[in-house]
Amino acid sequence: MMASVVVQPSSKISRSIRSIAVVGGKGGVGKSNLSVNLALAMGQQDVKVALLDGDLGLANVDILLGVQPEYNLIHLVRGEKDLKDVICSVGDQVFLVPGGAGVEELANLDDNSQSALIDKLADLDAMADIIIVDTGAGIHKNMVSFALAVDTVILVTTPEPTSIRDAYGLLKSLVFSAMGKLDVKVLVNMAVSQDEAKLVSDRMRFAASQFLRMDLGYAGYVLLDPKLTEAVRARKPLLRLFPRSAASECIRMIAMDLLESEERIPGAGKGVKSLFFKLSRRLGMKVERG
Ligand SMILES: Nc1ncnc2c1ncn2[C@@H]1O[C@H](COP(=O)(O)OP(=O)(O)O)[C@@H](O)[C@H]1O
Ligand SMILES: [Mg+2]
Repeated sequence: MMASVVVQPSSKISRSIRSIAVVGGKGGVGKSNLSVNLALAMGQQDVKVALLDGDLGLANVDILLGVQPEYNLIHLVRGEKDLKDVICSVGDQVFLVPGGAGVEELANLDDNSQSALIDKLADLDAMADIIIVDTGAGIHKNMVSFALAVDTVILVTTPEPTSIRDAYGLLKSLVFSAMGKLDVKVLVNMAVSQDEAKLVSDRMRFAASQFLRMDLGYAGYVLLDPKLTEAVRARKPLLRLFPRSAASECIRMIAMDLLESEERIPGAGKGVKSLFFKLSRRLGMKVERG
């Protein structure tokens, strides 16, 4: 008889990065600004954050941060640069991974170069605690791929009925394309009051539970704040330019709640390898439209 092999769990606790994707059904709902400022807010909590620009069509996180990265993921994909050349520090605890077109090239790699690249990216696990991915709008294959590869999805909507409908449509297509459990939290941006945001999120959560049989979470709300537009024009992140503004306060609160809820999840994150492995697989697949 063969002796059974018992695999001992490693006694060394290896921390793996947790991943969050910021998605929305529509352009202009605030995804990029939220990604940037949530990253900075978490950085202020002494959490190391990698911010990945995952919007292929409109990679603009660098502009919002007022930085000009020389290289992006594409140089890493092509083996022309190392991770350390591509990442760009944007604060004490926060660095940007300029993604752009590099993300799409992931899908075109053969298996060997893909795993070589993913091995290189795995260094991010040791460099950051959380990776936040800003994505493009709508039910784009790239965006859905990110949403299905991360640990937590932040679904951004404004109180406008068109935005709510698009966000719900996106949620539906995520639920239909997901193979396992999905952790999605709705974030209501540009709300005029906490009550308005609550109403919007309650309606979406009710619909999700009734028609999609899913437990949609609530990440919180960010008030409509002209200071945010001012910050964008100044090419400076809101949290730095107007740290005491209403929207900054809201974003800090959401960041704290997110960090707290991430901590409660045992086993920490699935890590960068898992994220990019799933992503590259997903990018090669067809996406269902909801
Ligand atoms: N909370 C807010 N209050 C006021 N204006 C906002 C707010 N959030 C976003 N905006 C406006 O919306 C614009 C688009 O935001 P952006 O983050 O680029 O959206 P997305 O990435 O979803 O396309 C910003 O330039 C800003 O003018
Ligand atoms: Mg954007």
